Amino acid sequence: HKILLVNGPNLNLLGRREPGHYGHHTLNQIVTEITQEALLHYIHIEHIQSNAEYELIDAIHATSADFVIINPAAFTHTSVALRDALLGVALPFIEVHLSNVHAREPFRHHSYFSDKAIGVICGLGAQGYSFALQSAIAHLAVKK
Ligand code: DQA
Repeated sequence: HKILLVNGPNLNLLGRREPGHYGHHTLNQIVTEITQEALLHYIHIEHIQSNAEYELIDAIHATSADFVIINPAAFTHTSVALRDALLGVALPFIEVHLSNVHAREPFRHHSYFSDKAIGVICGLGAQGYSFALQSAIAHLAVKK
């Protein structure tokens, strides 16, 4: 199995970006950790982080993965196009946010993804990615 991990705009700044909201882990640390964890289950992680919406869309179109873990970042609240890309390839996905978006500004309370996600994890920091991976593994095991 293969899982596509998608990280949206500004997540390349993790580690130094508003640590009160997003913690001290760098994106590289997060990706390395879940890649290793996935490997223990013979699952390959394909990762893309981009600040450009079309690059995320193109990666979703091109992937041979059978599951997606996505933190759309600010695109969560704006992007019909990214939502449509996930629906277009009909891949099951879990939505992850480091911060608890519901405890923040009202414009972060709405997501263009949540109603189509298998599940949504928010507010648990970097660990949220690991929880998403565990859930994805269980999902893929049932499917196989
Ligand atoms: C985020 C929450 C979004 O509202 C914000 O725009 C981000 C990161 C999170 O992981 O908490 O960039 O998705």
